[in-house]
Amino acid sequence: MAPKSSAIGPLLLLLLLLAASVSALTLVSGSDGDSLAFIKKSCDSTLYPDLCFSSLSRYAASVHSDPIRLAWLATNVTIGRLRYISSHISSVRRTAVVGEGGREAAALKDCAETMGDAVDLARSSASEIGKLTAPSTVGTEIAWRVSNAQTWMSAVMTNEDTCTDGFAAVPGRLKTDICGRIRWAHKYTSNALALLNKLVSNR
Ligand SMILES: *[C@@H]1O[C@H](CO)[C@@H](O)[C@H](O)[C@H]1NC(C)=O
Repeated sequence: MAPKSSAIGPLLLLLLLLAASVSALTLVSGSDGDSLAFIKKSCDSTLYPDLCFSSLSRYAASVHSDPIRLAWLATNVTIGRLRYISSHISSVRRTAVVGEGGREAAALKDCAETMGDAVDLARSSASEIGKLTAPSTVGTEIAWRVSNAQTWMSAVMTNEDTCTDGFAAVPGRLKTDICGRIRWAHKYTSNALALLNKLVSNR
């Protein structure tokens, strides 16, 4: 038994080295044009391809035709949208006259919480994806980190839905405004999650 099991060590090391060199290869940068074509092709498999391309193409230079960097970028862009909505909700809570027997105010308060959490979740996801770009991240650690990032981005979508649902029984201008913004962020989140999902379906 002993000689057999001792052969596993070097084999595992070889596999890890192979995986490391493959992930290092994906970091080799192409030209911006290649990167744009890469972004276009990747975006085509998302639910909102036009929004995907228009929101990500301006950062093509930071993508280097790398699917991990693209998913990272899409998540970063989503964080920007979520933060924008979160601060909008805060300012509405400070300034708007909310009626509806307190129901509108309650829905707004719940949204402030769920969207604040959504920002944190998306940040956790982005930081996890960022760690994937380290050449030392290989094998099962990649799968584990991608899975964490997917879980957190799915939770962001759930939080967006929770905010929208909270306004279901509170029709009015505020509902239209908040739910419209959430619907918009939802598309960014969906796209980022789709690009994240591609990381595991590609491998
Ligand atoms: C995402 O945001 C982080 C933090 O701001 C930044 O360091 C990183 O380069 C960004 N990633 C991409 C692919 O743009």
